Amino acid sequence: MKLSSLVGSTISGLLLVLVLALMAVEALPPSPASSESKSALSVSTPVAMASAAVSDTGLENESDNTPIRGANIGGVFLIEPFIKPSLFDQFLSRDKADIPVDEWTFSAALGKVEAKRQLEEHWDTFVTRDHLETMAESGVNWIRIPIGYWAFNLTDDEPYVDGQLPYIQRVLEWSRDIGLKVELDLHGAPGSQNGYDNSGRRGVPEWLHSRINVDRTLDALTKMTKIAVEWSDVVYGIQILNEPSRWKWEVKDIFAFYNEAYDLVRSIAPDVWFMIHDTFLSPNEWPTLVAPRWTQALMDTHIYQMFDNYMVTMNETTHIDMVAKMAEDVTKFDKSNIGVVVGEFSAATHDCTKYINGLGRGSRWEGTLEGVADHPLCPFATCSCTGDYGSNYTEYSEHYKSFLRSYIDAQLAIYDQELAGWFFWNFRTEGAPEWDYILGVEQGWIPSFPRTAMPKIEESSVVVFDDAQTTHATTSNAGESQYQFIKSTRGIAVNLGMAVAIAYSMLLPF
Ligand SMILES: *[C@@H]1O[C@H](CO)[C@@H](O)[C@H](O)[C@H]1NC(C)=O
Ligand SMILES: *[C@@H]1O[C@H](CO)[C@@H](O)[C@H](O)[C@H]1NC(C)=O
Ligand SMILES: *[C@@H]1O[C@H](CO)[C@@H](O)[C@H](O)[C@H]1NC(C)=O
Ligand SMILES: *[C@@H]1O[C@H](CO)[C@@H](O)[C@H](O)[C@H]1NC(C)=O
Repeated sequence: MKLSSLVGSTISGLLLVLVLALMAVEALPPSPASSESKSALSVSTPVAMASAAVSDTGLENESDNTPIRGANIGGVFLIEPFIKPSLFDQFLSRDKADIPVDEWTFSAALGKVEAKRQLEEHWDTFVTRDHLETMAESGVNWIRIPIGYWAFNLTDDEPYVDGQLPYIQRVLEWSRDIGLKVELDLHGAPGSQNGYDNSGRRGVPEWLHSRINVDRTLDALTKMTKIAVEWSDVVYGIQILNEPSRWKWEVKDIFAFYNEAYDLVRSIAPDVWFMIHDTFLSPNEWPTLVAPRWTQALMDTHIYQMFDNYMVTMNETTHIDMVAKMAEDVTKFDKSNIGVVVGEFSAATHDCTKYINGLGRGSRWEGTLEGVADHPLCPFATCSCTGDYGSNYTEYSEHYKSFLRSYIDAQLAIYDQELAGWFFWNFRTEGAPEWDYILGVEQGWIPSFPRTAMPKIEESSVVVFDDAQTTHATTSNAGESQYQFIKSTRGIAVNLGMAVAIAYSMLLPF
């Protein structure tokens, strides 16, 4: 295990070295090929590794078969207009051409000082410890945190601002306390890997056009992987890049990057789950994206039924039938190669949601998406983004709510039971009900699972309690009772956690 990159001269650094040394002894990677049907590729499930480290994490209720049950913490450290439209509404009186559409133009429009002020407030408030606890209570055991490269590697001539890391570390701190595992996900690469607003910069992608962009991507990954090592009891997975587009780049060039990133990540973190996106290829072609020598690898696929003209025309029954059809080859790959995680999916079957196709763009549903749909495509005689298809869930019919539940149940029957697991997109939104995990659980169209994310207070050296509370914590049994205890002392933990997170961030080597 390579420890040279760790902070060794501080107490926390020494503790970390101890923890890592213990893990190196206790958490040997599970043996590959636990079943004859699997190929030479690594086939252990993510939770098998987690349970190997059970004495370190205290996640006692997770068995080898517990899937990843997750939600994305999207729209926080990489903003997206559809997740939090109010960030962009301040610009709506401008000429259309001057309205920001992504984080790049948002930051350019405000300038670095004001952009940083507004974004810090956003990072501070949009994800809270309460959100994570609420999700853990409904069975979430992992979160996926999308991050843009500019949190790690920013140049003066780019409008983006940095400063995200202390806030990300605060989320890691909460996750440690609550017992959640974390996937860090590089969601935006220099030049943009896909041209979508969710890469930070909408427009023509430039990523693989220059080696400098690749080097900067690898630099961001180096720093992200070092965080995974520093937080090895919390960060279990690194997604090296979200949605590099096979429509923009040659698949062989994307694979070459994946392979280079593999060596880099493994040189820093021998055990972390190495997660790649499928580049939107069909599952039959996924073998071209993976190397047989990889271990502890997972394929990430995103399954949506509304970014496509034909799919928007489908009725409810067909949407539900389509779930199994779309997952069929995914399941075959999962069974014969590396495991598959559905890293993004939602309850949406229409594209009415404000800004879902990008700020300033219309919908396929109503036929207003320029260049894509010039007539309404919804499965009804008249198409309108209101009522069941509007943004106000209190106006949803009972019928529609029960459809949402059936559609989610159909998806989870496969992603939860057949695959390595899932991450709902997104943990919350400002006004996009079908994309909002916390709202969906609260309203009943997303089911709850038994809670398997369990904290172990004794192992959590960073959250500081006063003496009386510490005694209480260490004498109670691990599991639910401790969790209740953490909840009741949340105020203290949050404030101290933040102070410690910021202090801790100053020790990190970047
Ligand atoms: C989880 O583990 C705790 C502590 O061992 C135990 O009390 C509890 O019953 C378990 N829960 C489930 C659902 O197995
Ligand atoms: C970004 O990455 C490049 C390529 O590795 C490196 O030369 C540069 O120093 C990095 N910039 C920052 C701010 O870390
Ligand atoms: C849904 O669409 C399918 C395929 O077009 C059709 O066969 C079926 O009758 C439709 N169902 C309803 C309830 O309209
Ligand atoms: C949502 O709809 C309800 C019922 O029609 C209405 O009372 C409420 O004001 C609406 N909320 C918003 C934000 O428009």
